[in-house]
Amino acid sequence: MCGIVGYIGENDSKEILLKGLERLEYRGYDSAGIAVRGGEGVTVFKEKGRIADLRAIVADEVVGTTGIGHTRWATHGKPNKVNAHPHQNTSDRFTIVHNGVIENYHHLQRDYLAGMEMESDTDTEVIVQLIGKLVAEGMTTKEAFSKTLTLLKGSYAIALLDAEEAQTIFVAKNKSPLLVGLGEGFNVVASDAMAMLQVTDQFVELMDKEIVIVRKDSVEISTLDGEVINRQPFTAEIDMSDIEKGTYPHYMLKEIDEQPAVMRKIVQAYQNGEDQLTIQPEILDAMKNADRIHIIAAGTSYHAGLIGKEYIEKMAQIPVEVHVASEFGYNMPLLSEKPLFIFISQSGETADSRQVLVKIKELGHPSLTITNVAGSTLSRESDYTLLLYAGPEIAVASTKAYTAQIAVLSILSAVTAQFKGLDIGFDLVQELGIVANAIQAQVDMKEEMEQIARDFLSTTRNCFFIGRVMDYFVGLEGALKLKEISYIQAEGFAGGELKHGTIALIEEGTPVIALATQEAVNLSIRGNVKEVAARGAHPCIISMEGLQEEGDSLVLPKVNELLSPLVSVIPMQLISYYAALHRDCDVDKPRNLAKSVTVE
Ligand code: F6R
Repeated sequence: MCGIVGYIGENDSKEILLKGLERLEYRGYDSAGIAVRGGEGVTVFKEKGRIADLRAIVADEVVGTTGIGHTRWATHGKPNKVNAHPHQNTSDRFTIVHNGVIENYHHLQRDYLAGMEMESDTDTEVIVQLIGKLVAEGMTTKEAFSKTLTLLKGSYAIALLDAEEAQTIFVAKNKSPLLVGLGEGFNVVASDAMAMLQVTDQFVELMDKEIVIVRKDSVEISTLDGEVINRQPFTAEIDMSDIEKGTYPHYMLKEIDEQPAVMRKIVQAYQNGEDQLTIQPEILDAMKNADRIHIIAAGTSYHAGLIGKEYIEKMAQIPVEVHVASEFGYNMPLLSEKPLFIFISQSGETADSRQVLVKIKELGHPSLTITNVAGSTLSRESDYTLLLYAGPEIAVASTKAYTAQIAVLSILSAVTAQFKGLDIGFDLVQELGIVANAIQAQVDMKEEMEQIARDFLSTTRNCFFIGRVMDYFVGLEGALKLKEISYIQAEGFAGGELKHGTIALIEEGTPVIALATQEAVNLSIRGNVKEVAARGAHPCIISMEGLQEEGDSLVLPKVNELLSPLVSVIPMQLISYYAALHRDCDVDKPRNLAKSVTVE
């Protein structure tokens, strides 16, 4: 959450910073700011709202070849102009941008800055005031920066300017992601490589608690103890077209449409030279050796985890528990002797999941991360990684990462089953090919999806999703998609559970979206639909070929039942998209949210 950029070189930095922030807006978009160091010293521009609002107030005549910028997702203090970054110390000599949460900022304020009036409500201002105070007491900027870092508890990615040292950006990170990008005659800083692909594809990874001195022609990395680190850059292999919207009105629609291609790419990526699905042997050993698997994830990734449990248990026959990451740390179940932890995370940066990873590593348990981002924190810190190959997901609402997670979980389960000598009874490669075609058929039915959104959701203030077994899990995802982008109160329920209380909420015209894609529960979910219809609900039944009945709103093409979530979620995504559009909501950047949730 929050995005950081920095530039130091020979050109004016403003446009590079603003473009970088636009690429990082997915990390937070309630306020933004830049600071540039030019002939007149450091000038700060900041504004509540989006980067477009910031752009409108940045003065052309201010020019600076060194600059830093920030786009915010508020944690401490309201999203307003005063709390927007960059922040400065009282003398305005030091200017800082920060991503993360300083847990002990009250203590630091009390112990080191007593009596000092703070301008903002942020934890960040304490950092910059403390650096200013230590320098005023006689330290050099680097010494003050290092000393302050040793006092901070929590997470941070920081870029700092000193008005009296125009040729330097001071940089550090702990738990929050940050990269330095290398150029000819310039260097840059960014929370994520996408932000600076406009100027370079060469990046150096930073590790926690390193201090980095970035100048236009050098980058010096050292530990807080002063040990110099030499690290080779890597090439960011991101295709610019993957991060552009192209002709699409929204990233979400583009990413929904990409799903058939993502399915095919995943199958290809996990096939060996003989077209057989394959997974690294050490991961298969870890799966086979586990007496219980714990899946840890949040939000949409948690919903993919619920489907993953079905796959691993049914195909590989290993017991699985699925946990909401933010709860696990505080309510750890009794662990078996040989557990394996699987972290599912599109971004690989979710702080709630990371805190579980830290805990289980301390206990000495093995871990596997399934993520879309190679080199992300969860990937680096866990023992093994499986990639999603979904390409960058920019819309805040996750779509293609969810189906990619399910597809990778199916491959992991099937290959583990084979490794254990079990027969899953079908050819997964062939079935995933059929799924890709079925997804294509759904994404080609946009008019029908829009009509369903119009018929069922145009005026409602709430909506229920019901299903049984895997349809229930997809219903949970459907409800999350709808509520996060359209702000309609939406909840997913197990079909049989409604009568135990929730059915009291059904009124005349309440939309109930029912999924009926599994033979074993087809009659029972249809019975549940009758129960709500008898109480006035407006049911929308989404079924699958072979199970359909007259009056169903949508009939999905037949696919292997175990893989039906990959297809049945597509109408959930598209209906939510159109419901949000009809309500004039900002589809790609829903209120109060951010894409990468790096605070606990
Ligand atoms: C919803 C959504 C979120 C994320 C959740 C976990 O559309 O995107 O619920 O799934 O914040 O994020 P990752 O997968 O990056 O760990």
